[in-house]
Amino acid sequence: METMGNAFEEAYALSINDKAAFWGQAAEGITWTRKWDTVLDESQAPFYRWFAGGELNTCYNAVDRHVENGRGAQAAIIYDSPITNTKRTITYAELQDQVSRLAGVLAAQGVTKGDRVIIYMPMIPESLMAMLACARLGAIHSVVFGGFAPHELATRLNDSTPKMVIAASCGIEPNRVIAYKPMLDEAIAQSTHKPDNVLIFQRPQAEASLDKAGDLDWASEMAKAEPHPCVPVAATDPLYILYTSGTTGQPKGVVRDNGGHAVALKWSMKAIYDIEPGEVFWAASDVGWVVGHSYICYAPLLHGATTVVFEGKPVGTPDAGTFWRVIAEHNVVTLFTAPTAFRAIKREDPDATFLKKYNLEHFRTLFLAGERCDPATIDWAEKILNVPVIDHWWQTETGWSIAANCKGLHLFPVKHGSPTRAVPGWDVQVLDENGHELEPGKIGALVCKLPLPPGTLTTLWKADERYKQAYLAEFPGYYKTGDAGFLDDDHYVYVMTRTDDIINVAGHRLSTGAMEEVLAGHPDVAECAVIGVADDLKGQVPLGFVCLKAGVATPPEKIAADCARLVREQIGPVAAYKQTVVVPRLPKTRSGKILRGTMQKIADNQDFKMPATIDDPGILPEIREALEEIGLAGHRVG
Ligand code: COA
Ligand code: AMP
Repeated sequence: METMGNAFEEAYALSINDKAAFWGQAAEGITWTRKWDTVLDESQAPFYRWFAGGELNTCYNAVDRHVENGRGAQAAIIYDSPITNTKRTITYAELQDQVSRLAGVLAAQGVTKGDRVIIYMPMIPESLMAMLACARLGAIHSVVFGGFAPHELATRLNDSTPKMVIAASCGIEPNRVIAYKPMLDEAIAQSTHKPDNVLIFQRPQAEASLDKAGDLDWASEMAKAEPHPCVPVAATDPLYILYTSGTTGQPKGVVRDNGGHAVALKWSMKAIYDIEPGEVFWAASDVGWVVGHSYICYAPLLHGATTVVFEGKPVGTPDAGTFWRVIAEHNVVTLFTAPTAFRAIKREDPDATFLKKYNLEHFRTLFLAGERCDPATIDWAEKILNVPVIDHWWQTETGWSIAANCKGLHLFPVKHGSPTRAVPGWDVQVLDENGHELEPGKIGALVCKLPLPPGTLTTLWKADERYKQAYLAEFPGYYKTGDAGFLDDDHYVYVMTRTDDIINVAGHRLSTGAMEEVLAGHPDVAECAVIGVADDLKGQVPLGFVCLKAGVATPPEKIAADCARLVREQIGPVAAYKQTVVVPRLPKTRSGKILRGTMQKIADNQDFKMPATIDDPGILPEIREALEEIGLAGHRVG
């Protein structure tokens, strides 16, 4: 395989051998109000600080400087909402006006540098404006995905203690309008921390009544607001906190800085995605996820590109041709989405008949991430689109991709099942359980040698110790990704499975531990386990096993319905928790650990070895039987 002498190899070697030179050069792409003293400050390792001593404003770099450099009339955001039949283009000059006034609104309420602001909003341009207005003031935003229930929002209110919440009056799903304000009021009632103010962007589909003390109306506040200038912050100051699933019900607050984030994301737009300023880039995700933070909001704007804010679904809004229409109509050159979206389109329109209606001549590349991409989906996408389809691997924690085919540097041959190679800045290795490096082809823990490149998590919010324990303790000197996989002889990375109890449902990351905490709260449940089972559309879906307390006579169907309702109420519809089986006992090791992995293999009809430490092998046939009853196949123990 040809690997030498290309721009990728040069960049990669420099990024590993001389980090300061590599990232110092990339930092020239950003405008600083004060240049950094050191590119990489290792003095507080394992807490690494990029561009220490430097000062900048992320919003200035994403908005104002493009206006100053002649891009004022260029589209910054294209809002396309088939779900509301709305389209709207916002230029960089308009974005600057809106964001500076919104920053004025926040400042008038006393929001200042370092304060936290929670944003609970759907896929509308105002969500990006809210994020950018916080960045403009040096306030730290924390966006909460609209599909989470009030309880999850309350957890985040308590952990991040925001001064203010910015929300829309509603979100819109294909089958319903979801009023956000009552959920927000409920979350604030549940939380111990109370924000001073709640700023509501009213949407005509469901206006909120602003009847609580501190409730403010976006439109009337904006009408009287003074534009606020950009506030320089330290490169190492936090830009945002994004909560993500951990192994318990307490989510992890991933902290991102300003300087390293701006440098890495700006660099990635050309190097990884091969985008030029002025081109149209579309990440079909949600602002509540990391993909939305990095590639709907910050990276395209830092690069002076145009970003698409799409409010709809790949199918049903109105049909399986929606993605092709958006690409054709707005001259999108690159689409980034999750494989599940393509599985949904393929299921609805296997012959891609809708595609024939649209002219996709500008379209150059499809990027997929968020879950392991099945080769059949990549095959299909390549065949119908006739452009490179690039799988790339990343996490909320990393903020941008660990492994990818860096199209702007060098396009390597695609190997289905692999997100290609470690991106410049990432030293990916595979270790066995004793921390020894494994040879190519051998599966082990996927880890990244410290320090991680800029733009990655700096710590967990107010939880330095948890950060060290969760990511750095098991393999000293490395960041543990929580994924298992291998490298091949050509240095291609293969990501096979999570090593913890995190599952991936329709590209959404969820904790089975958090769901177990909810089921355990059911008064009839003595013990429970939740696993992720394979699903043709969503990749995985959760499945619960519950054992009932002695003497409980509640019918299993009632228990199952209760469990589904409880998870929906406490975590949210996004958990997609629908199935529960009532079983007499759970399989365990002799030390009492539930054998979730074995149960998952049985449910997915995969071969498995009888665990050597199993306490009572007789329980496995019971599990298989229960699964067969709900149509999941069991494989004979052997
Ligand atoms: N607000 C409120 N509810 C939401 C929501 C939001 N922002 N997003 C999803 N939900 C709800 C859905 O309405 C659904 O509710 P239901 O149980 O009443 O039907 C539930 O959460 C599960 O949602 P989801 O798993 O997304 O299933 P879906 O059937 O609505 O859509 C796909 C399936 C595959 C079309 C959709 O998940 C998709 O487009 N995913 C790919 C893109 C993506 O977002 N990737 C993220 C990382 S890149
Ligand atoms: P999230 O933090 O929601 O982005 O989820 C991150 C997790 O999703 C990773 O740890 C992987 O388990 C999985 N993931 C993301 N991208 C890929 C990919 N390209 N291939 C395989 N798994 C992926």
